[in-house]
Amino acid sequence: MATITESIEAAKEVLDRGELVAIPTETVYGLAGNALDVDAVLKIFDTKKRPAFDPLIVHTHTLKKVEELVRTIPLAARQLAEAFWPGPLTLLLPKSELIPDLVTSGLDTVAIRIPKHPMTLELLAILDYPLAAPSANPFGYISPTTAEHVNQQLGGEIELILNGGEAEIGIESTIIGFEDGNPVVYRLGGYAIEEIERVAGPVKVFPHSSSNPQAPGMLKSHYAPRKPFYLMERGQLAQDQSVSTGYLLFDRYLPDVAESDQLLLSPTGDMQEAARNLFSYLRRLDQLSYAKIFAEEVPEIGLGRAINDRLRRAAAH
Ligand code: TXA
Ligand code: MG
Repeated sequence: MATITESIEAAKEVLDRGELVAIPTETVYGLAGNALDVDAVLKIFDTKKRPAFDPLIVHTHTLKKVEELVRTIPLAARQLAEAFWPGPLTLLLPKSELIPDLVTSGLDTVAIRIPKHPMTLELLAILDYPLAAPSANPFGYISPTTAEHVNQQLGGEIELILNGGEAEIGIESTIIGFEDGNPVVYRLGGYAIEEIERVAGPVKVFPHSSSNPQAPGMLKSHYAPRKPFYLMERGQLAQDQSVSTGYLLFDRYLPDVAESDQLLLSPTGDMQEAARNLFSYLRRLDQLSYAKIFAEEVPEIGLGRAINDRLRRAAAH
């Protein structure tokens, strides 16, 4: 198993050797390596069993550093960056020569973000390079929101996990690209569309479940538990008596099912709390002895859209 530490110096030492470290962010834990070192980046793809056509996000800590890694920043991107960084926003920007093609899977744009976690910001500030980091889960599985989640799945393959506690937001960053200078949302995430639109005006949202490799961030089947997972519209969930079933609900228990077999994402209907609990509850239901998992969609408001996006992709097999 990996060493779980709070030592930023220890993380730097491992990264400086070209090895990988799992890092905390406000969204989910990332599997990080030197973004400018092709060998380190290759290790990320290998460790995650991630296909090489699926590009990585580059993390850095100041807008000035971002400017070194991209060719230009469109006006709309700068406004978003100023409003939302550090935070759960990733921008797709034309990459500079510094970024290896492997990081972007040959695309001309690089996904870049300034995460909002004090330990990781401190780490980024003492490194001489940005960090490439996908979510620290095996490809296609549920994203990790604690150091322990990372250890359960990648602990055998990495040396060190920087422990920054439970992720505050719990779902990945909102990814935004630009078409003719206008923002387009490629992945729903930790900033709700309503928040983005307050700054950017109306934005186009890319249809959620595409398997089009031109838009690699949007693979249709993803975030999936290992056992059969079924998703129903809110209020349509009914008891299944054929096999033992674990239930994931938004805010209310099903009356005919034992409460011990049901997890409520947020008993008070708080969407932030629901987002924070989503991946760890899915993981818990996957690990318990149930033969299958039934889940219901949440209301399509605020982070609810991003939560439903994850649930639909988890159910897409
Ligand atoms: O919150 C997050 O974004 C977390 C934390 C660790 O920062 N990271 C994360 O990384 O979710 P990952 O690799 O699991 O998801 C990044 C997504 C991928 O689906 C990838 O296809 C997409 O971003 N992506 C990366 N670069 C892209 C690009 N140039 N164009 C389109 N999509 C891109
Ligand atoms: Mg991921």
